[in-house]
Amino acid sequence: MKLSSKIKSAFLLPQVGFRFPKHSELPSAPGKNIIVTGANSGVGLALAKILTQKQTNVTMICRNQERGVTAQKIVEDVSGNKVELLVGDMSSMKSVRSLARSVGNRKIDAIIHNAGALLHRRETTAESLEITVACHVAGPYLLNHLLAENLSLSETPRVIYMSSGGMYSRKLNVDELFENTGETFDGVDRYAHAKRAQVELVETLRKSCPQVSWYATHPGWVDTPGVAKSLPQFYRITKRFLRTPTQGADSAAWLALTESPPKSGSFVFDRRVVPTNILPDTLCTDKERKKLLSRLNSFSDGAATP
Ligand SMILES: NC(=O)c1ccc[n+]([C@@H]2O[C@H](COP(=O)([O-])OP(=O)(O)OC[C@H]3O[C@@H](n4cnc5c(N)ncnc54)[C@H](OP(=O)(O)O)[C@@H]3O)[C@@H](O)[C@H]2O)c1
Repeated sequence: MKLSSKIKSAFLLPQVGFRFPKHSELPSAPGKNIIVTGANSGVGLALAKILTQKQTNVTMICRNQERGVTAQKIVEDVSGNKVELLVGDMSSMKSVRSLARSVGNRKIDAIIHNAGALLHRRETTAESLEITVACHVAGPYLLNHLLAENLSLSETPRVIYMSSGGMYSRKLNVDELFENTGETFDGVDRYAHAKRAQVELVETLRKSCPQVSWYATHPGWVDTPGVAKSLPQFYRITKRFLRTPTQGADSAAWLALTESPPKSGSFVFDRRVVPTNILPDTLCTDKERKKLLSRLNSFSDGAATP
């Protein structure tokens, strides 16, 4: 990450996520089927708990069987309701296809793409994708694609990306995003870039796929195992001010459940629509967004026949 980007992040980030305002109760939504990825830890686990307590049928996607079963039990104990566990890796296109097959042809009302990680070393998937991009962008895009029919069975289909305020420091550059070689690797920048890609994707999908409502959200800065592990210094300094996972999960849960959702394409923080750019040099063109779509479509070939 360039020094200027670090300065920008340091300046911007504290403004977007430490305090948590009071909100009204979330509505119950019995009969809604909601998928949450990365549901065994932090914000995802909190999301699964909140949504199950609101009588929805939650499918937890976790990449590790043991961690998934432990989390499933926690959610079922808290809510008194059954939840489904599907084990799969969102950074593996092969695994995403298998997850979609397991979902079958039932109605899906919302997919919450929460799975994510900030890595400090370049790691590449079996399909030759850098993992940050595979997990945050390519895998979720393929899952949306494979579950398009399932979403079409819902009266209010929604797809929600758990992005990050970290994306404010980054402009989308599709060639750089998918660049997968080179000696240097800046995990913080790659993470911010993938989160920016999610936001730009939402903006373009709202137009190309208007039958679904598309959202990205920032959870605020949340005390989770993910932050403690990937940003230990930041965690040590800010721990006292961080939100709880339940607070971090609130906006995504609200987007999935509310009867008065914001306009499709919105970036949401604390149940409010917020700008997607604070700095003029991060503005994205439609041409670059189309390039992102076309690159992602190249990984989704054959998706209609999983
Ligand atoms: N915490 C914050 O302050 C903050 C701020 C902005 C955005 N976010 C975003 O919020 C989301 C949740 O983060 P968190 O802080 O709750 O972190 P966390 O505690 O590390 O939880 C991340 C979850 O994603 C799962 N995951 C990671 N890679 C995966 C993959 N390839 N396939 C399937 N699951 C995968 C993890 O599984 P394992 O347990 O198996 O690793 C874990 O369940 C992430 O997208 C993160 O970028 C968090």
